[in-house]
Amino acid sequence: METNKTFTMIKPDAVANGHTGAILDQIIKAGFSVKAMKLTSLSTEKAGQFYAIHKERPFFNDLVKFMTSGPIVAAILEKENAVEDFRKLIGATDPKKAEEGTIRNKFAESIEANAVHGSDSDENAAIEGSFFFSAFERV
Ligand code: CMP
Repeated sequence: METNKTFTMIKPDAVANGHTGAILDQIIKAGFSVKAMKLTSLSTEKAGQFYAIHKERPFFNDLVKFMTSGPIVAAILEKENAVEDFRKLIGATDPKKAEEGTIRNKFAESIEANAVHGSDSDENAAIEGSFFFSAFERV
């Protein structure tokens, strides 16, 4: 299993609030390189599949509604120790608990509208990346 890639989404709150550029700037300055990226949006069906692991959680329906509320930016990022370093860069899920200077501390609105997603393992980074990108995708 590769250990040098992670998957991120800039979520609808951060895109709508005009934070895409600042967030990408912070990610790149932290040493990540962007291997794939697209501005897109999630259907209810696709959001449900992406968050299937949270299906039984009380916040699942609201999460799907939020994630389909506007455009997102999906990206595959590369850096040594990518998964762990990216989770440090974004901070805790709840922005009230996110360390000063982290992306969620600076740009998130709430535990739900928390600006960015970051994969929690190498295995999920590969699954989530291939959810949005084909290895051989070219235009
Ligand atoms: P993320 O870790 O990217 O993926 C799962 C998402 O579910 C998480 O970000 C939050 O946006 C959301 N989430 C997690 N816990 C809660 C919660 N207690 N209440 C509302 N949303 C949550």
